[in-house]
Amino acid sequence: MQTTKIRAAITAVGGYVPETVLSNKDLEKLVDTNDEWIISRTGIRERRILREPGKATSDMAVKAVENLLEKRGISADEIDLLIVCTVTPDLIFPATANLVTHKLGTSKPWGFDLAAACSSFLYGLQVGAQFIQSGTHKKVVVCGVDKMSAIVDYTDRNTCIIFGDGGGCVLLEPTEEDNGIMDAILCSDGAGAEFLHQKAGGSLKPPTHETIDAREHFVYQEGKTVFKFATTNMADVSKKIMDRNELGSDDVSWLIPHQANKRIIDYTAEIMGLPEDKILMNIERYGNTTSGTLPLLLWDYEKELNKGDNLILATFGGGFTWGSMYIRWAYNS
Ligand code: COA
Repeated sequence: MQTTKIRAAITAVGGYVPETVLSNKDLEKLVDTNDEWIISRTGIRERRILREPGKATSDMAVKAVENLLEKRGISADEIDLLIVCTVTPDLIFPATANLVTHKLGTSKPWGFDLAAACSSFLYGLQVGAQFIQSGTHKKVVVCGVDKMSAIVDYTDRNTCIIFGDGGGCVLLEPTEEDNGIMDAILCSDGAGAEFLHQKAGGSLKPPTHETIDAREHFVYQEGKTVFKFATTNMADVSKKIMDRNELGSDDVSWLIPHQANKRIIDYTAEIMGLPEDKILMNIERYGNTTSGTLPLLLWDYEKELNKGDNLILATFGGGFTWGSMYIRWAYNS
């Protein structure tokens, strides 16, 4: 007897970005930089910042999930599991997932946070998919949200030009059709930790007056080294997943790449043999929202995606962490 394979399919997308815009011109007033340099070296024109006092990552996740629930026509009580992918949790504990479900007015889903820097959302999708494929869960929400402005040093021109706030989420449901999450390659190498990290605030270096004076609670990045690894690894892993699934460049409908730097994205697309019109990009408007970039792309471009389209998601981030995922899109919006 042949059993039908159950796959996890994305069946709805939600998103949220804060209203406040921080443009390159605004940054010129904070650090020694200029609009032309930022656009030509990164592709970023502006980013969104969550300015309201008392608002955090959970508040953006709640808005994104509410958006998703409304579009799918279901209530928060119908979610079985909620995974919040983030490097900027509201608190060290409890998990942001607990705060999000509470703010959604439910205690039905269980949930947890997942941190893998800019690869968090891709890792989260793969984790969420296992619960669907095993048949134990019917509705899994995976959020990718970050309030990077909480850990960005606005006196450091190497990092403050890059990051922004925002994020999105997807609903995973079982399908017996030949679509959904088809394959994933996820990688990590802790040798890269020294090039992109936050020095203090964890158990290694708890907060002290000294760590604050030394500005160690912010993102630290050796840009050139990260750029080199990001370019090579994101391109390699994207090509690898194409080859493993016997996809030629004509078979790929869309590249959905992490939005860290337009130059990294262009190189990845070149190695994959993809023309510019197959690359989804919104780095110009949001910058790098870390865990938020991939769901924000799905949210922004949802209407362009058609059932049966072959999507390659690709990412690279601190850790180092990186990976790619092959998704056959499951619905027309
Ligand atoms: N404005 C103006 N000049 C700047 C600047 C800024 N914001 N930041 C750096 N510069 C200067 C440097 O001081 C340097 O000047 P010098 O040549 O006189 O020493 C020059 O610009 C080139 O600096 P460099 O660091 O080589 O720039 P770059 O082309 O590598 O771009 C990054 C810097 C950060 C944009 C780029 O390295 C990058 O995108 N790295 C990877 C980011 C990433 O992917 N991060 C997250 C992974 S998820």
